Amino acid sequence: LRPTTSLNMEYKVICADYYERVIDHLRGNFFADEPLNRAAGLCQQGCGNSELEHHSLATLEDQLSIMALDARKDSDNYGQIAGVVLNGVLLPGDTEKALDKLQFSCDKNYKKIFELLYRHSLQVDLFKCFNVERIFDVRILSVDARYRGQGIAKELVRRTELVARESDYHLLKADATGIFSQKILRSHGFEVFSEQLYAKYKDAEGQIILPVEAPHIKMQLLVKEL
Ligand code: ACO
Repeated sequence: LRPTTSLNMEYKVICADYYERVIDHLRGNFFADEPLNRAAGLCQQGCGNSELEHHSLATLEDQLSIMALDARKDSDNYGQIAGVVLNGVLLPGDTEKALDKLQFSCDKNYKKIFELLYRHSLQVDLFKCFNVERIFDVRILSVDARYRGQGIAKELVRRTELVARESDYHLLKADATGIFSQKILRSHGFEVFSEQLYAKYKDAEGQIILPVEAPHIKMQLLVKEL
């Protein structure tokens, strides 16, 4: 995907030179305000989280992620990261391995979040269901709070599909945790494959594990066949 500019934004595939800045962007945005991270109290705005950073860097290394950079030359924010979509490759057995590894995690909040996502994914074998050997996994969609509501997330998802097509993937998948990401993905032709209501995800004592704030009420596993 060649770098291109639209709506005062430059969109390009994220190379290693940008990894540190991408993590910094996530610390200021996604790590604190994605609905599950917020419900678990994963981290304060601007703070790091070693497990989520490790997960993000491992995804970046698949070289399928895209960022939006502020391209307004007359602005103080010129060149700033406005948003990112972190995409990774999912192979058979990856989620099982990740869930096993999660048992050794020392971060109980991170564990809560990823147990929900991994256990939900493992309810069905998408590889068999769609007869594919690899899945293009849309893992982290994040727009800087100062740039939201301008269509940047929508554009990142549109370009994600182009990257997936160029790399010859036949199935895109995303675990969307809030109503806005769900809406964005559905507007790009993703379909709801399965979902989990947060109010019904409880521990052995009947307590809700992740008290996610309204308007977000469920996570959805969405797919798009190419
Ligand atoms: N209130 C009302 N509508 C909203 C809001 C909001 N807060 N945010 C987005 N929307 C709607 C827009 O109105 C638009 O709808 P339209 O096409 O009908 O006009 C649509 O969603 C797309 O909006 P964008 O402007 O493209 O979205 P934006 O660039 O603001 O980014 C995002 C949305 C990524 C959800 C951003 O709010 C964010 O970073 N949130 C925190 C992190 C997060 O929750 N990420 C998604 C988790 S799931 C995952 O990562 C796979």
